[in-house]
Amino acid sequence: MEKKAEDNFEDQYGRAGVRDTPQLLEYYSKLKALNTDALWTIANAIEPWEPKPTSIPMLWKYKDLRELVIQSADLVKPEEAGRRVVYFANKGRTETGACVGWLYSGLQTMRPGEFTPAHRHMASALRFIMEGKGAYTVVNGHKIDLNARDFVITPNDCWHDHGVYEDGEQCIWQDGLDIPLMNTLDCNFYDVYPKPAQSAKYPLNDMPLSHAGSGVLPDKLNWENDYSPIMRFSFENTYNALKDLDKVSKGDKYGGHTVRYINPTNGGHVMPTMGGYMQMLRNSESTTSYRRTGSYVFQVAKGKGYSIIGGKRFDWEEKDVFVIPSWTFFTHHNLDDNDDACLFCFNDLPVMEKLGLYFEESYAEYEEALKKGYKSSYQGRD
Ligand SMILES: [Fe+2]
Repeated sequence: MEKKAEDNFEDQYGRAGVRDTPQLLEYYSKLKALNTDALWTIANAIEPWEPKPTSIPMLWKYKDLRELVIQSADLVKPEEAGRRVVYFANKGRTETGACVGWLYSGLQTMRPGEFTPAHRHMASALRFIMEGKGAYTVVNGHKIDLNARDFVITPNDCWHDHGVYEDGEQCIWQDGLDIPLMNTLDCNFYDVYPKPAQSAKYPLNDMPLSHAGSGVLPDKLNWENDYSPIMRFSFENTYNALKDLDKVSKGDKYGGHTVRYINPTNGGHVMPTMGGYMQMLRNSESTTSYRRTGSYVFQVAKGKGYSIIGGKRFDWEEKDVFVIPSWTFFTHHNLDDNDDACLFCFNDLPVMEKLGLYFEESYAEYEEALKKGYKSSYQGRD
């Protein structure tokens, strides 16, 4: 008869430590016949001492993928594929389509004159533009032009389609969605717009242009949505904000200078389930090791360097994509002595924060916890 409880035995007061006996094994069989089981046989496995992500740290080199992404435009039409995307498959998460945790990401390409069929879904989506000219998106009738290194949101349940103007260039951008999270929560929906594309209902670029100044909002703004009315965040504005921040701040040893993309009406994240930030590492700057809950997808917006993630080194340059799984120690290093490096990141921090699941720990705190016999600083707190 197969052993049950001993597979997860722990010799620690407060944890499951039941040895298998012939009587217990017979008892487990009876429970199983009634589609039940004894919690103490699996308790230690399903309630680990600390998060045990199945995602692994990974990096995808843009120079390896670019030609294959461009080639997809020869092989598949957007109206056939719905969305023509090469997605990032985390080796630990292949069954979910995730690049890390509950986040999905991929590289989408669009030729001049092409557009994706308009649609909406319960998953939230965002994009970071990598190359090309003349890309645009239409979100609930708001048409917005997109330039390289712009960050744009297409919030959940909003009609959206994307394309490239006839006089543009073939574009590539990174998509990010919380599809795996929506599927896990059993709440994903998908809907196709009654026409191939939306007609713009408002002046071109009305949302980003009406929220272009930091610290000011349009008077009598009537915005009751739970996502940011800015919708598109230009790299120029974001980079200038980081450079200005650097004039008055020494930054943070764990992150250098970081600015968060926000919903200016409440100061919160850009969307209810996914957030984003841009991080600047000054010349030759290295960050100090820490870890946090949540899943993080990075794209190198500027510069070259490397990150140590879970003890492994990943060298990166502009447009490379890498991921940091939950509760994994990491540091970032700018290898350029004469220029800064910028890392765009999107993540599930809004979910972590709203559900009370965010927890972070520096490597120094971890070492202190180990000295006290703990597995992390989560234990032994007041
Ligand atoms: Fe979509």
